[in-house]
Amino acid sequence: MCGIVGYVGQKNNSVPVLISGLESLEYRGYDSAGVAVLSNGAIGIRKTKGKVEKLRDLLLEQPISGKVGIGHTRWATHGVPSDENAHPHFSNDDKIAVVHNGIIENYQELKDELQKKGYVFHSDTDTETVAHLIDDYYKQGGDLLEAVRLTLQAIEGSYALGVLCADHPDQLIAARKESPLIVGIGENENFIASDIPAILNYTKNAYILEDKELALVKADGIKIYDIDGNEVSHEVYTYKWDVEAAQKNGYEHFMLKEIYEQPKVVMDNLSKRFSADGKHIELDGIKLGKAELENIDQIYIVACGTAYYAGLVGKYLLERMVRIPVNSEVASEFRYKDPLIDEHTLVIVISQSGETADTLSALKLSKAKGARVLGIVNAVGSSIAREADDVLYTLAGFEIAVASTKAFSAQVIAMYLITLHIAQELDMLPEKDFLEIKEAMLRLPSQISDILTKAVPAIRKFVNKYISSKNVFYIGRGLDYVVGMEGSLKLKEIAYLHSEPYAAGELKHGPIALIEKATLVVGVVTQEALFDKTKSNIKEVKARGAKVLAIAMKGNDGIEEVADDVIYIPRTHWMLTSILANVPQQLFAYYMALGLGEDIDKPRNLAKSVTVE
Ligand code: M6R
Repeated sequence: MCGIVGYVGQKNNSVPVLISGLESLEYRGYDSAGVAVLSNGAIGIRKTKGKVEKLRDLLLEQPISGKVGIGHTRWATHGVPSDENAHPHFSNDDKIAVVHNGIIENYQELKDELQKKGYVFHSDTDTETVAHLIDDYYKQGGDLLEAVRLTLQAIEGSYALGVLCADHPDQLIAARKESPLIVGIGENENFIASDIPAILNYTKNAYILEDKELALVKADGIKIYDIDGNEVSHEVYTYKWDVEAAQKNGYEHFMLKEIYEQPKVVMDNLSKRFSADGKHIELDGIKLGKAELENIDQIYIVACGTAYYAGLVGKYLLERMVRIPVNSEVASEFRYKDPLIDEHTLVIVISQSGETADTLSALKLSKAKGARVLGIVNAVGSSIAREADDVLYTLAGFEIAVASTKAFSAQVIAMYLITLHIAQELDMLPEKDFLEIKEAMLRLPSQISDILTKAVPAIRKFVNKYISSKNVFYIGRGLDYVVGMEGSLKLKEIAYLHSEPYAAGELKHGPIALIEKATLVVGVVTQEALFDKTKSNIKEVKARGAKVLAIAMKGNDGIEEVADDVIYIPRTHWMLTSILANVPQQLFAYYMALGLGEDIDKPRNLAKSVTVE
């Protein structure tokens, strides 16, 4: 989604800081880029449709420089990707420049009023309204900070804003509501950014702005105010991630690097999660003991995309092991369906970024209805982490690739841990079974390494064989069905292949009509209790000409009787197969996309963090 970076300091030219910041935000997905800098009482703006590289070229042809500047990568919401719609947007006299993430919901009525006052609009964006509105208030009162504050009171919707004014060559103003923004703290220089990678080369210390706050940022100081104009104080937050984490370290793509990081991520998420005697789960910071759990009569798991599929794994496990009804919902549906939740509901929200707009709204709605909210979050200090009653961090580190891989594995581990914890608290898991599962969990990191070492040559071979597929179906039952959903999403996202997941037993109720000669079907068959059932479904698609690539567990060789090709995962406990079965799927999607020549880390139309509805 859109990215913001801003600089004010001693450097003679802020442009290189802005460009390197924008490059670090490229992974979030965008379609145009721009910068505005202030020099000699005038604002220079360069912006263009396309990549930051194109902006860089434009700046070489038409250089600008200045000590204070703001930069932006745009992901189109209002108006097509174009030079005109790219940010920054500026007031009619070029005095004020604005970059914005989010959506101004009442922009049309504000625009109508501004047009009546004579303001001329040059773009189709909602953001341009903000530039003119600030200008209007500024002309009336002559106080820039006040003009921004009044603008914030007038606009509805979500925003992270960076504002420059030609009359104030030593400052920039930042503001946020429901869209992340931090103020980075340097020495005789300060920054604003929508995400820490943009400024990690310069500082790890920042203030995390709260909703409806604005910051006045100068080289020698930062002041933060609430929307009523009262100064507020914030603690400095120090990010632990380093620059290295945001680099490819020799891998061709971030996605591949992150796939290979999974053994470590899984190990990190398991270490320190067991009590000293090894007989219990310990989830620091989570106050979900027996008394709290006995008060709960249903669980909702709410998330988007890959995080939703991790939640679905949790649903299957919790219902089976804890016997509490679990509803799993995508956040964009949950938030508008007036869900039946109350103070006896535990709502688990899952998010890598911790900033997904729909998930955040679902969280707020759940709290307003009295439910207890547990957040499973990767980004420390993110909005969801701060709003949830309890947080379980997923310790996956920076995930840069748009296609989520290691974060999914970490989220699934979190669901395993929560399921085991609840089952133990409610006396539903005998110690012997717990210890058996624990031992199996601790083998997962080396088993993932095993898949990564041994499966790649076979997967590359299958990719060569199936590269011309146009339609791909993923089928499975129970947890295997959920894994197929995630596999199908990965293939869509980066290889742009039409693919659909189906519950294997549902095929003959319709979708089997689409199976024809050489249709590729990926059959996930790791649940031994359901092995024969899924095997029958595979026979059905084979009988209609499909080619079948199966993902099975070692020992279930019977699959070779029906599948064209098989990838085996190491043997594990039934509840843990999802995490292993997904790794070959990740590799399959990756190598398919590579074979098709797609831009794997920056897939078209997608954003890493979806901070608008
Ligand atoms: O940051 P979140 O986990 O809340 O993001 C949720 C989805 O947008 C995300 O998982 C998306 O589906 C990924 N691109 C999947 O690879």
